[in-house]
Amino acid sequence: MAFLTDPAAPFAGLAGYDPEELFAALPTPAYVIDEGRLLENGRRLAALAGRTGCRVLLAQKAFSNYDFYPLLSPFLAGTEASGLYEARLGREEMPGKEVHVFCAGYRDGEFEELLRYADHIVFNSIRQLRKFGPRGKQAGKSLGLRINPQCSTQEGHAIYDPCAPGSRMGVTRDVWDREMDGEALALLDGLHFHTLCEQDSDDLKTTLTAVEEKFGDILPRMKWLNMGGGHHITRPGYDLATLEGCIRYARQTWGVAVYLEPGEAVALNAGYLASRVVDVVENGDARIAILDASAACHMPDVLEVPYRPPVLGACPEPGEGHPFRLAGPTCLAGDIVGDYAFPRPLAEGDLVLFGDMAIYTTCKNNTFNGMPLPDIWRLGPGGALERLTRFGYQTFKGRLGR
Ligand SMILES: Cc1ncc(COP(=O)(O)O)c(C=O)c1O
Repeated sequence: MAFLTDPAAPFAGLAGYDPEELFAALPTPAYVIDEGRLLENGRRLAALAGRTGCRVLLAQKAFSNYDFYPLLSPFLAGTEASGLYEARLGREEMPGKEVHVFCAGYRDGEFEELLRYADHIVFNSIRQLRKFGPRGKQAGKSLGLRINPQCSTQEGHAIYDPCAPGSRMGVTRDVWDREMDGEALALLDGLHFHTLCEQDSDDLKTTLTAVEEKFGDILPRMKWLNMGGGHHITRPGYDLATLEGCIRYARQTWGVAVYLEPGEAVALNAGYLASRVVDVVENGDARIAILDASAACHMPDVLEVPYRPPVLGACPEPGEGHPFRLAGPTCLAGDIVGDYAFPRPLAEGDLVLFGDMAIYTTCKNNTFNGMPLPDIWRLGPGGALERLTRFGYQTFKGRLGR
């Protein structure tokens, strides 16, 4: 997580503001997307593209708050989608830019419509390439196949490792050798791999070596290579030089156009989840602050990854300050954000501000227990706050029936 390398990074966008003052009138819980930080990330990604000739897409699975697409669009080549709806969103909300889609399994009923939105379509199996590829080609689409270089660079994290043994993600070389033939190969314009998660470019380099070992004979026949996401490009301290070396190597060695499709890096450290303490309870030595925000509902990756999100003003060193467990108001015993300590004891009404909350939150949250969805706000120049959504009871009810 970004805050492990630089504890200030998730809140750098608030420099010069007093958060208590800035968020005094904000109804909580609320997601606040920081336009200034998005712009900064966009600039860095565009500069990378300018220096290397690679094309950078926004992976919408991480961040799809389309009110910010006009702001991001000038810095990006387009969007990446995980299926029909995200492809449509990218086409509608980032007009004139490329739309790429990768899905582990396309369905008959959706493919025709997908052809209306997507420019690049990446298949996960040779079977699906054979089934849908000819229709894609006829419609003038650029087609790709996801490969699995069988190179794990993240240990102990199988849920986020597409190269874990037995993974369904991508075609391994032995399957390629068994199933690929001239007809299917002729449909292909590019190869795609996605193997990283919040990683630096040394792991990309390791992966690229594995890609070359396994698929180096195929790549010169391709027009493009998509290196997926998981590149933490905008994190302070990220090794850009190695990334740029990888991009240049691929372009020069195989003559391919290079695509990157980061999600996190586009909106890294560009959002906050503002919450307030609604109660403080005790159990033995534990003091537990119950918030109006829930880990399970509003920051699901805290439990799923799992990770400990940065909290503004929390003591950086263990053993300092007043320890508090931050927890959500739902029925789930494990709806716990984590154990923190604060310079003064937390009390009802206190603001608790989580950092790096633009990614995998607003697009992944849920209304378990009938929890209200936090509204999404824009933090603009000069600290201007603009409300973008009005979620309410109907949002909750509308997903459950007619
Ligand atoms: C195929 C693909 N592309 C891109 C991404 C974006 O990854 P990140 O948000 O870590 O950059 C993912 C994430 O799971 C993915 O599966």
